[in-house]
Amino acid sequence: MTTDQDLTHPIESGSIESVSIDADSLETGSLIIADPDEGKRIAELDRAHVFHSWSAQAQIAPLPIAGASGSYIWDYEGKRYLDFSSQLVFTNIGHQHPKVVGAIQAQAAKLCTIAPAFGNDVRSEAARLVAERAPDNLNHVFFTNGGADGIENAIRMARLHTGRHKVVSLYRSYHGNTAAAIVATGDPRRWPNDIGVAGHVHAFGPYLYRSVFSAETEEQECDRALAHLRQVIELEGPGTVAAILLESIVGTAGILVPPDGYLAGVRAICDDYGIVYIADEVMAGFGRTGRWFAFNHWDVAPDLIVFAKGVNSGYVPLGGVVVSDEIYATFADRVFPGGLTYSGHPLACAAAVATLETMAEERIVEHALELGATTIGPGLRALQERHPVIGEVRGVGVFWALDLVSDRTSRAMLVPYNASGAANAPMAELGAECRKRGLIPFTNYNRFHVVPPCTTSAAEIEEGLAILDEALTVIDKYYVG
Ligand SMILES: Cc1ncc(COP(=O)(O)O)c(C=O)c1O
Repeated sequence: MTTDQDLTHPIESGSIESVSIDADSLETGSLIIADPDEGKRIAELDRAHVFHSWSAQAQIAPLPIAGASGSYIWDYEGKRYLDFSSQLVFTNIGHQHPKVVGAIQAQAAKLCTIAPAFGNDVRSEAARLVAERAPDNLNHVFFTNGGADGIENAIRMARLHTGRHKVVSLYRSYHGNTAAAIVATGDPRRWPNDIGVAGHVHAFGPYLYRSVFSAETEEQECDRALAHLRQVIELEGPGTVAAILLESIVGTAGILVPPDGYLAGVRAICDDYGIVYIADEVMAGFGRTGRWFAFNHWDVAPDLIVFAKGVNSGYVPLGGVVVSDEIYATFADRVFPGGLTYSGHPLACAAAVATLETMAEERIVEHALELGATTIGPGLRALQERHPVIGEVRGVGVFWALDLVSDRTSRAMLVPYNASGAANAPMAELGAECRKRGLIPFTNYNRFHVVPPCTTSAAEIEEGLAILDEALTVIDKYYVG
């Protein structure tokens, strides 16, 4: 994850040179005007009053952003950056898509807000468009404000539907920052947050490059990961397990594409024991992997699908749960004890309708798949040939990771799991070298993720990979193998 610590203000760091931009080359024609004094003022106000996520507050210097268009953002120095992070992997349709901006403006003029208890045209239409993309037996959408509260409510539905309490999820996962979601999370953000919460169990998923099952092939990894999961369920007591919660392709925790057969095997385990299968599609959904949902790469249908981010590219906060007909029936004549003031907010839903329609019209999902196959994948593999620190390249669509190592034989991670400070120096340097050259990176421990908007062009990918090549050259010195 790119944290705010990484976005050091250029004025303070003095490390970023100013670049003037030809504004006409940007699709929207937005003008990039350097205004360093305004940038400095915003940075000072930020430090005086804004409390940031996941950060030691006194150690950060967030870079003020003046504007954005397509795959680029720019600061108040007039310096433009290619956004290889899609911010926090959510601007799937790119920044400031005119059709989405227009839809939000039109909705604001018509009806900014209405409580969830009323019917609303864009809410109904957004639900229809989301349900239309889900498997046949998932027809209703419970809207939330983002991904974590989607996970929270999906878990609640599963528990009430089954009358059981446990949730099984993976160590290598991230599910959000609310009570149940952060405890279901595997990554270190769970560690300070899972005090006194019962009913969450973690298991190992497939990850052949660092197999805990001593597997040597994808097939072995798949079979052994499924056998392990089944055993975890049996030892926990199948009658106590409400849900298996999985990112269809693990995102922040590694861009781990499951082997063929894994998700189908999970579906079978759920069916055998009457467990609800919850697919977390918050990061992987809506085009990111070159499909509407990442599980569409395989022939499986979950019982609940949690989404957020790409559904409207985060232009207005929105998430939700797509509910199977069977679980819907549980709450047909029984109150669902959950709700949110802004559930199905009209501005967010108008943005979702415009996003989903535009993605279909402009064939953006297909573009993402092709970009991965023809440009990102081959480009990253070419970098792997030049830079020994790249242990593995993996991904699909616009969802890629470089697993960086200090030794290819032992596969020793370039920095340790949960590294920070001095231990994280090689990755901090890689991030800084990218930003210096005008590329916004997404890094997590020893990994560099390549997760640009789905709308990014092949030429822009080449531009970003050239910068990454230079930045990797700087950190090649950390390779000791
Ligand atoms: C897979 C996954 N699930 C859930 C979440 C939580 O979403 P939000 O930050 O919108 O609450 C995230 C956020 O990155 C995510 O990547």
